[in-house]
Amino acid sequence: MEDKLVVVGQGYVGLPLAMRAVEAGFDVVGFDTDHSKVKQLNAGESYVEDITDERLLHALGTGRYLPTASMDHCADFDYAVVSVPTPLHDGNPDLSYIEEAGRTLGRLLRPGATVILESTTYPGTTEELFGPLLEEASGLGAGEDFHLGYSPERIDPGNPTWRFENTPKVVSGVDEASLGKVQGFYDRLVERTVVVSSPKEAELTKLLENTFRHVNIALVNELAMFADDLGINVWEAIDAASTKPFGYLRFTPGPGVGGHCLPIDPSYLSWQVRRTLGQSFRFVELANDVNEHMPDYVVRRLVVALNRQSKAVNGSRILLLGLSYKKNTGDARESPSHTLARQLLALGADLAAADPHVLDVHAPPGIPRVEPTAEMLADADAVVLLVDHDAFDYDEVLDHAGYVLDCRHRLPTAPNVEHL
Ligand SMILES: NC(=O)c1ccc[n+]([C@@H]2O[C@H](COP(=O)([O-])OP(=O)(O)OC[C@H]3O[C@@H](n4cnc5c(N)ncnc54)[C@H](O)[C@@H]3O)[C@@H](O)[C@H]2O)c1
Repeated sequence: MEDKLVVVGQGYVGLPLAMRAVEAGFDVVGFDTDHSKVKQLNAGESYVEDITDERLLHALGTGRYLPTASMDHCADFDYAVVSVPTPLHDGNPDLSYIEEAGRTLGRLLRPGATVILESTTYPGTTEELFGPLLEEASGLGAGEDFHLGYSPERIDPGNPTWRFENTPKVVSGVDEASLGKVQGFYDRLVERTVVVSSPKEAELTKLLENTFRHVNIALVNELAMFADDLGINVWEAIDAASTKPFGYLRFTPGPGVGGHCLPIDPSYLSWQVRRTLGQSFRFVELANDVNEHMPDYVVRRLVVALNRQSKAVNGSRILLLGLSYKKNTGDARESPSHTLARQLLALGADLAAADPHVLDVHAPPGIPRVEPTAEMLADADAVVLLVDHDAFDYDEVLDHAGYVLDCRHRLPTAPNVEHL
């Protein structure tokens, strides 16, 4: 019999993991409390862009992948991986999904099984919160009767080069035997595993990676604002700095950060530092402050641009290009386009938006969705390029828009183009 794996949460993280595990020979139960997602999966319809319908159908066809919302199918597992959401609630970590998953799995836990947490969270969660919940619900001891570990996910949706299987996976366990089990599990799924000494280091690794990006994006965002005021082309400086073969990593300015990671994960770290040490994590707080205010800055630039045309934002036709949080994806979670749209609507702008990837339900409310036709572009008082999806026709934008604020530096320098 194949090893039985339960993946709790079939979202952006859990579904790719489940697919890979089916391909590696596991018997996989994809457990999700969202009945509509389970229904879609059973119908062979993937809602995660990196997983094609063909790949999902193939997994279903093996008879070793069962999407389900029923706990009954999860019993007798050898391995369980938890990839449920870890959002913020009033600025504080919301661990209720992890807690629920822990209680659910605990009731099914058998001696000898291995449980791995993958959700991004603050250091200490696995050993101090998740493990005790499993123990309480099962009556078994972590490290004694069952194995427990943490392994952060590094999935980068839409990245064709670094996929699940060729991205090194950091692994940890609460003891040697757990580490052996966790590493052995991922060795079957990815090309390389990287061992750290305890779950706390693994949890911190993920937060370090995302905080690093968050802080560096804030740095270039703040620089972009000052450079514009100083009349210096920040994009040219970034391109030039990026030719340095050592000691520099390229980050680019934008209209704000979005997605499930950057606006949230660093706050898990600063929350824990404040809670445990009573100190503020100044880098995180500064980066939050700069990045959260980027939509305000975009509005300011628009106000100035429209003012030059003797126009007010109120009543101006503004076309937003791109609603997702990054290019070539339909993921609009925490996207800065929502904040920007709210602000422009509050100022009375006549807004429209185009995005070929984002579903209507995930778009900012109250804004007509349009095709960025030549007529639409020509008709707008201002076009704001928020996300540089490859699907947009940039020649068309250049040829027909009267004024474009390009927040991604996708367009060349031209009389009708300003860069952020
Ligand atoms: N999306 C990414 O790129 C990414 C990358 C790295 C890490 N992460 C982290 O991974 C975790 C999951 O993120 P995601 O993007 O996959 O979220 P998601 O919202 O896409 O998926 C989570 C799924 O869990 C389900 N769920 C919630 N509670 C459940 C429960 N008790 N039992 C079973 N299913 C339950 C939800 O219905 C949902 O389908 C988060 O902690 C996130 O920070 C995400």
